Amino acid sequence: MDKIRIAGGRRLSGKVRIGGAKNAALPAMAASLLTDEPVHLSNLPDVWDVGTMRRLLLRLGTSVTQPSLHEISLTTESLSSHDAPYELVKTMRASVLVLGPLLARHGKARVSLPGGCAIGARPIDQHVAGLEKLGARITLAHGFVDAEADRLHGTTIRFDQVTVGGTENLLMAACLARGETILENCAREPEIVDLATLLTSMGAVIEGAGAERICIKGVDRLHSATHSILPDRIEAATYLVAGALVGDEVELQGCRPEHLATFSEALRTIGVSVEHNEDSIRVRSAQGALKAFDFETAPYPGFATDMQAQLMVLLTQAHGQSHIVETIFENRFMHVAELGRMGARVELHGNRATVHGPTPLSGANVMATDLRASACLVLAGLVAEGETVIDRVYHIDRGYEHIEEKFAGLGADVERIV
Ligand code: EPZ
Repeated sequence: MDKIRIAGGRRLSGKVRIGGAKNAALPAMAASLLTDEPVHLSNLPDVWDVGTMRRLLLRLGTSVTQPSLHEISLTTESLSSHDAPYELVKTMRASVLVLGPLLARHGKARVSLPGGCAIGARPIDQHVAGLEKLGARITLAHGFVDAEADRLHGTTIRFDQVTVGGTENLLMAACLARGETILENCAREPEIVDLATLLTSMGAVIEGAGAERICIKGVDRLHSATHSILPDRIEAATYLVAGALVGDEVELQGCRPEHLATFSEALRTIGVSVEHNEDSIRVRSAQGALKAFDFETAPYPGFATDMQAQLMVLLTQAHGQSHIVETIFENRFMHVAELGRMGARVELHGNRATVHGPTPLSGANVMATDLRASACLVLAGLVAEGETVIDRVYHIDRGYEHIEEKFAGLGADVERIV
């Protein structure tokens, strides 16, 4: 199993290019099931989860061509299966995003229930209830969601809680429903807007994506489209923290600073220098002492749960007590125990963490537990004294493109050990 070895303490400088967003690429790939014509996606990140979605689509009957590493063309003239099997769904929960498109275009879907995962229980009740309101007949048995529908019909659906995947699944399904669908209490993440942009260029009629209320006027069919996946704001946030920790001058290129407004503001309050242009951000570590900072994770435009672990590493170097409240997933502090082995002092009480800083970190052998927790260990390794070896690197490979190469390009002493 691959590991990443980091010799900490090297200063970083230079430019790093931010890739396409995994969490926008996965729904975009699922959306290709809504048409029998080719959907061409560029700026696709070269990460494992994209490979898993590709395998799932192949299994459903999609013909896939990849003209280059960062482009894919997906054509589903007809389906060879309606089944998203357990082996694939258990490795990647975002597989449930094929449920809405399969049902809307093909009237039938059988998708394994994802079950819990490392960061929390993560039910899909909101997806299921919404599809039922659109007219689907759904049974849950033997660990599968079995769904059938004649043509879906538009209606008003209010999510009981804000859900990114739920909003995406229903948005896709509603595009081919008869009549108008209103979705209320929607997630407002930039990845939702990116999906709506793709669907619109496929011929869908959508108003309000990025707002709490989305209105979709159903059409009879969708067609071919070409779409460039938006830049990954979570990858960008991770490199911003690296720059804040050990950066002389690090420039992130090809990103969308407006999607990182809350995060950049947090870094400035902590004492980090962050400047942005239209599509780049420059970050330097603080000249003086870093200040403690309190935050609570929340749906966009609030503080993203996917950036919580990374910011915690920075706060181990800040003076005073920082308080973090995790409101989205109930088990998203798994990095705390590993950071503790590197010298961090973090107290946990349920969904609240108190970081006591500053504490010098020291390199250690640590274990990656989930995607963002793993990224936080890489960041800790960069600032720690001595050598850090991170095991179970496959968690990082699910969502970070060539992370060791990108950090090495900035001057870090980092390598993959196979
Ligand atoms: C998406 O997951 C992202 N994944 C996650 O990124 C991200 O952490 C999360 O949104 C929150 O921003 C993708 O986009 C592929 P949710 P998703 O539905 O859609 C509860 C990463 O590291 N809920 O918005 O699964 C749920 O349990 C990953 O890249 C229900 O109760 O998240 C959670 O507490 C991890 N019932 C909250 O809502 C439902 O039917 C938000 O989940 C659906 C969700």
